[in-house]
Amino acid sequence: MNAELLLMFTLGCDRAYLYAHPERELTGDEQSRYEAALAERARGVPAQYITGHQEFWGMDLIVTPDVLIPRPETEHVIEAVLELQSSACGVRHPEAGSRKPEARSRAVDVGTGSGCIALALAKELPDADVHATDISAAALEVARANAARHQLESRVQFHQADLLAGFEDNSFDFIVSNPPYVGESETDQVQLEVRKFEPRNAVFAGSTGLEAITRLIPQACAALKPGGWLVMEISGTIAEEVKKLLRAWDDVQLRPDLQAIPRVAQARKPRHPNAVRMGTAQKSTGR
Ligand SMILES: C[S@@+](CC[C@H](N)C(=O)[O-])C[C@H]1O[C@@H](n2cnc3c(N)ncnc32)[C@H](O)[C@@H]1O
Repeated sequence: MNAELLLMFTLGCDRAYLYAHPERELTGDEQSRYEAALAERARGVPAQYITGHQEFWGMDLIVTPDVLIPRPETEHVIEAVLELQSSACGVRHPEAGSRKPEARSRAVDVGTGSGCIALALAKELPDADVHATDISAAALEVARANAARHQLESRVQFHQADLLAGFEDNSFDFIVSNPPYVGESETDQVQLEVRKFEPRNAVFAGSTGLEAITRLIPQACAALKPGGWLVMEISGTIAEEVKKLLRAWDDVQLRPDLQAIPRVAQARKPRHPNAVRMGTAQKSTGR
């Protein structure tokens, strides 16, 4: 698979061309570029960093070593948001009274990396006001390039920020994030390729893996409208702890990925202001 992928990359062709032209010989230049790509792969560099591309939600995205390579399981985050959005449009929340849901929803993707989540949401929710944050200026450059590549640059506003700092205005319908969630204590269980080549601050959150999420939850509470949703990618290792951190929230649900591992945590900001305060207070003492 890798040999084929790197050959397609070297020749700038698709798989059909490779199979349709078995007689095609490589020129000297093609041969040396192919060998260089194979040598990179042989020393463990992920194929996506060699080709500079990864597909996500049907979009071809640019990836560089400044950003995490988007993973297929992160598409479950998009599915969750789209389901929640369509049920919000179709069914009135009992406490929403006779008020119709607002047409233009606001969403922010925290830790956008390549921009994959924000761009998928902008593509799927043409009426939404989409924002994206990352602490890494280099990652934001890649995300902006991807937005331009898919003619979505006017749809997503990118911000350099520490998680949601500066967004605490109770105005968002969705806070969406695939935060760093691996603990340094789990380093040995992380693939060597990931450890060696993907950005450390995209993968590791601190000693337990919960550090970014622990800070994100109260910030999300402050940024969301009452009744707004927090949707986060998580791992099976931290699933139960995340549930505890969300105990003051409504409608908490963990959604499994295709391997039945809890992969997405979703929770609704309580409409009752006391419950929100209680959640923040519990959070700082809890765990
Ligand atoms: C797991 S990666 C997710 C990237 C992308 N959203 C995806 O799903 O492929 C986490 C991202 O969070 C960013 N990040 C880490 N700490 C952050 C912080 N304190 N504030 C904002 N972004 C942060 C990293 O730079 C990285 O791009």
